[in-house]
Amino acid sequence: MKPERLIIGMTGASGAIYGVRLLEILKILGVETHLVMSPSAEITLGLETGMKAKDLEKIASVVHPVKNIAACLSSGSYPTGGMIIAPCSIKSMSEIATGVTSNLLTRAADVTLKQRRKLVLMVRETPLHTGHLETMAKVSSYGAIIFPPVPAFYTKPESLEDMVNQTLARVLDLFGFETPDLIRWRDGG
Ligand SMILES: Cc1cc2nc3c(=O)[nH]c(=O)nc-3n(C[C@H](O)[C@H](O)[C@H](O)COP(=O)(O)O)c2cc1C
Repeated sequence: MKPERLIIGMTGASGAIYGVRLLEILKILGVETHLVMSPSAEITLGLETGMKAKDLEKIASVVHPVKNIAACLSSGSYPTGGMIIAPCSIKSMSEIATGVTSNLLTRAADVTLKQRRKLVLMVRETPLHTGHLETMAKVSSYGAIIFPPVPAFYTKPESLEDMVNQTLARVLDLFGFETPDLIRWRDGG
């Protein structure tokens, strides 16, 4: 079943474009999106794309202040089809792994896990130390899907946009969405 409502988290990891493009694609697909951005995400968004958080208000259906812990997303009684954090920092992943959940973004992720809904973390960092890897294994054992935004080259991308779109198509494939950008590997290419 394709979700009608998704939570999109954006953190201060590099790759703000993944969050922006994801919101654009979901808008085209008619999915209701609830965006939560960390303060660091606003910084990387500006540095990497020149956009401001306000610009995303035109793309997302609802934008929740990250400090508003009383937002609907804080409760498991609010139905959603899951959450994608694009991109996901090591810091936010670590908060989710420990259940600290000091803001709405990590609280919403914790709720997504406890309600046994789909949580996809597009974790971006390199290289990784053993602590990062162990934290990934931990959240994965709780049910989260670790989806580092690693481009595929068998799709023969011609631009950065191709790479971003293909990666997001694979993420959305996990939720049952068949997008035009999804290139599936067939025998022999
Ligand atoms: C330009 C820039 C790029 C960054 N890239 C990454 C990254 O790829 N991965 C990461 O885990 N943190 C990265 N950081 C650091 C995070 O922004 C920082 O750890 C922050 O505290 C994350 O907080 P948040 O998870 O609440 O957004 C970057 C910071 C800046 C300014």
